[in-house]
Amino acid sequence: MALLAPSILSADFTNIQDAVRIAEDAGADIIHVDIMDGHFVPGLTFGPQLVSAIKEKTSLPVDVHLMVDNPAVLSPLFIDAGADWISIHVEASIHLQRDIQIIKDKGLKAGVALNPATPIHTLQNILHDLDYVLLMTVNPGWGGQTFIESSHRKISHLRSWIKGQKLDTLIEIDGGVETVNMDQLLLDGTDVFVAGSSIYKSDDPAGTIAQMKAILSRGKEKE
Ligand code: DX5
Ligand code: ZN
Repeated sequence: MALLAPSILSADFTNIQDAVRIAEDAGADIIHVDIMDGHFVPGLTFGPQLVSAIKEKTSLPVDVHLMVDNPAVLSPLFIDAGADWISIHVEASIHLQRDIQIIKDKGLKAGVALNPATPIHTLQNILHDLDYVLLMTVNPGWGGQTFIESSHRKISHLRSWIKGQKLDTLIEIDGGVETVNMDQLLLDGTDVFVAGSSIYKSDDPAGTIAQMKAILSRGKEKE
């Protein structure tokens, strides 16, 4: 079944513990943590200390999305902090194979993230090494943006490519995910749904997570 990864970027920063607890209690599968460095994207968010603190409060895997210019320097800090999954941006990494290997060597799941305008063929020589591909479906930097509709085509192309290669690489989708577009995203071939504002800015975050999980399990029945 596809997985749900609430992004704490849209949670109340003075109460991250509560956001993580709500996610876990409501049945979320992964906690998505967005790291922004003020260079690769304009925003500045969290450091490795927050990842260690979250790890102490949850048994869910922590998925670190590095929106940073120098992933080779920063990823080891997040590995040491206890991250379970780490993705780095293809646009930011000069030595992508080496940067991915550093993550894999430590036994974590390694992913490459692509901005909306970055073609999937940039993964030609690295796809076989990846546990997952994170397709940005908004331009990275903020929560609460509108889903870019042309992403549907990109996701299905990537899904066909992965299938054709007989790989089990997961496709993670990040940006503008809401209950109303999840059915189509499932049909496109999404495995991991990141959702920030649609969960934490809703009146009932736990209820929204439960609704999203129900959509994912209905998708499973249709397979
Ligand atoms: C955006 C981040 C996302 C963000 C998504 O740069 O990578 O993970 O939290 O937020 P929503 O779900 O609100 O689009
Ligand atoms: Zn993200």
